[in-house]
Amino acid sequence: MQLTFNLAAVAALAAAASATPTKTGSLSARASLSPYYHDLAVDAGKQWFGCALDTTGAEYQSDLYMQIWNDSRIFGSTTPGNTQKWMYTEPQQGVFDFSQADLTVQLAQQTGKKLRCHNLVWSSQLPSWVTSGSWTADTLAAAMKNHITTMINHFGDSCYSWDVVNEAASGDAFTDNIFLQVIGENYVAMAFMYAYQAVQAGGYSVKLFYNDYGIEFPGDPKTNFVINKILRGVQAWDPAYIQGVGMESHWSTDYHPSAEQVATIAQAYADLGLEVHITELDVACPTVPCDAAALAQQADAYYAAVKGCLAVDKCAGVTVWGFVDQFSWIQPESNDGKGDPCIFADNFVAKPASSAVSEAWSGIACDVC
Ligand code: G3I
Repeated sequence: MQLTFNLAAVAALAAAASATPTKTGSLSARASLSPYYHDLAVDAGKQWFGCALDTTGAEYQSDLYMQIWNDSRIFGSTTPGNTQKWMYTEPQQGVFDFSQADLTVQLAQQTGKKLRCHNLVWSSQLPSWVTSGSWTADTLAAAMKNHITTMINHFGDSCYSWDVVNEAASGDAFTDNIFLQVIGENYVAMAFMYAYQAVQAGGYSVKLFYNDYGIEFPGDPKTNFVINKILRGVQAWDPAYIQGVGMESHWSTDYHPSAEQVATIAQAYADLGLEVHITELDVACPTVPCDAAALAQQADAYYAAVKGCLAVDKCAGVTVWGFVDQFSWIQPESNDGKGDPCIFADNFVAKPASSAVSEAWSGIACDVC
């Protein structure tokens, strides 16, 4: 029964992909394009093409969405979109709730997906006991250590990697948050130290990552800050504390790097000895639905992400932050009219970006960009 459902979903996806309109109008060249993005990534020597999942979100209620998400030929990795965050997992101090996060772990394991665990320390989606507590540097560090240690021990080797610290930079400065205010800049390296100690004590092989947005542009002030203050800062404590960097890649059609820029910055991170993941890729259009020009630009951006990753040995894979527009976190009402950032439009209609992903993994020119 399950097989039938999966095949039906894939058939729908394949049909949609082959019907993707191209800029040149040439449908025949597209007919052989595979929609099995993960298989294409593996064939190209990478570890995955993945897709995040929020089991608290509407996408989880969509049978078709989940049938496609479940197909390990299409997506070979996932990231819990929300459910491992502090507000869900430790809603009261010392009281942990793993129920929602465990569901994603189970779904990932059932479908053979690697799991990028996300995240341990971030200024957003914190429970009020953290944001409103009366802390000293020592008591907040102890709470942070307990959270990190308990999470790492609970999920163990079901995580391929952990985003230990998320979005600690805003422009060329540390993001203002409770950890910075109470502990100071060292909270970043301390979080990695606690994570490393937990991994060592548990004998796990999980890789420890820093994850951020807007760090995909070589020479940009934020990129330089992350390299010099955060990544090198953690390594100055001990190079063993950090194994990778996640480039979120939340882009828009008029704000995205070229494939060459992605490759250049990914290589710069690799040169620090770090593994690189593209972790939350999506590309918003300025208006919805995307017009023809925006669809081509969006395809170009997705193509650039994959091609850039392909060019760098230490880039392990690409993960999209959802794959159908109607379920994306980016909705026009709350984003100045911008939206539709995924490779599939509402109602699962394939966009040029879906072909671009297949073309990039296949190492062929982008016909839809
Ligand atoms: O849980 C409540 C629910 O009870 C309520 O009914 C509903 C009404 O809006 O809101 C629900 O909470 C929402 C939550 O997602 C779960 O769906 C929040 O309002 C909403 O703000 C929250 O958004 C998440 C966002 O992180 C928070 O910053 C997105 O789903 C999630 O995709 C997004 O993910 C982040 C990454 O973790 C880090 N990088 C950026 C990325 C995009 O912002």
